[in-house]
Amino acid sequence: MSLEIIRQDITRMHVDAIVNAANPALLGGGGVDGAIHRAAGPGLLEECRTLGGCKTGEAKITRGYDLPCRYVIHTVGPIWHGGHAGEREKLAACYKSALRLARAHGCGSVAFPLISAGVYGYPRDKALRVATDTIRDFLMESDADMHVYLAIFDKASFAIGEKLYAGIAQYIDDNYAGQHTARSRSLLPEEMCELAKAQRDIEDVCEEMAMPQEALREVPPFAPMAAKPEPKKRGLLERLTRGAKKPAASIEDALAELEDGFTPYLLRKIDERGMTDVQCYKKANIDRKLFSKIRSSANYKPSKNTALALAIALELSLEETRDILSRAGLALSHASKFDIIIEYFIANGQYDIFEINEALFAFDQPLLGA
Ligand code: APR
Repeated sequence: MSLEIIRQDITRMHVDAIVNAANPALLGGGGVDGAIHRAAGPGLLEECRTLGGCKTGEAKITRGYDLPCRYVIHTVGPIWHGGHAGEREKLAACYKSALRLARAHGCGSVAFPLISAGVYGYPRDKALRVATDTIRDFLMESDADMHVYLAIFDKASFAIGEKLYAGIAQYIDDNYAGQHTARSRSLLPEEMCELAKAQRDIEDVCEEMAMPQEALREVPPFAPMAAKPEPKKRGLLERLTRGAKKPAASIEDALAELEDGFTPYLLRKIDERGMTDVQCYKKANIDRKLFSKIRSSANYKPSKNTALALAIALELSLEETRDILSRAGLALSHASKFDIIIEYFIANGQYDIFEINEALFAFDQPLLGA
């Protein structure tokens, strides 16, 4: 029950069905249509001849013949005429018809090319948006357990909106530690002594509370102290309860709060948002099996990818995202473009995981969920 964008030649995919961007005659052509017919062999054309063609927005199914897939679903996309001739609706109809046909034939995995984004001239970023929006809506509404791939044949045929691309590129440029050596500069002398003082404060507090030093390991790594040093108890208490709804009365309460691991925190947030489990894992683009594994183990340690996918599904703020990550022993890092791109979307209040995945794909980063 998820959507994955991959760089792949669709004719090589071992899935239940691949979708062909065909023409109304269904007798082969160029582009992906030609590639599929060449790889499938003459049997495909013979069966296509019996179908009597196909209307734009509709879909018909044949066997896969010499292809590694079971079925080929042929659909005909709209030719782009500027966007005022119902192209969007017709293109969306292609994805819906193909997905319904795949579900009717019990397909658990389906691969799409970017329909109409080649010879038919549909602008690639718009074609991508229609594809991911339509597939997402189908997956959210359907109970079919289906993994959908969007197979991008070459990077040139993939594009997200220029404005979005520029916004993310600028945010990476402003934040990516890998580019800003200043960020990884050694500490200045006065910062070193502030850090040493902070460390001594921590040790004092540990002593007072007879608390093992490692109990505070999860306290976020110290940035150089602010100009005026925080009073030791209050500063630590604030750091321990960062992101909590209400400040804890004492460090003991704060630590008790921290005991709340990833899963209890996740389930509490799902309840707060009034979501069901199904809505949550579908919005996170993760499959049911993984979600039930997380749900059934109070001490589950998810991957950062899964933790962030769930943070996006719950539409957590940046503070809450840092909080849920810390409960799995994880943290956002400006040394990772992947983290920075996710931070960009959260900071801008954009929580469509499929749009985020398009951006991650455009920047050659791993995708969320799936
Ligand atoms: N695997 C995955 N995607 C592919 C492959 C492949 N082997 N070959 C091409 N593509 C991509 C293209 O890069 C493009 O992004 O498929 C997308 C759709 O491009 P076209 O194949 O040109 O299809 P479309 O734009 O829908 O035009 C359909 O072209 O081939 C003819 O007979 C077809 O008349 C019909 C028209």
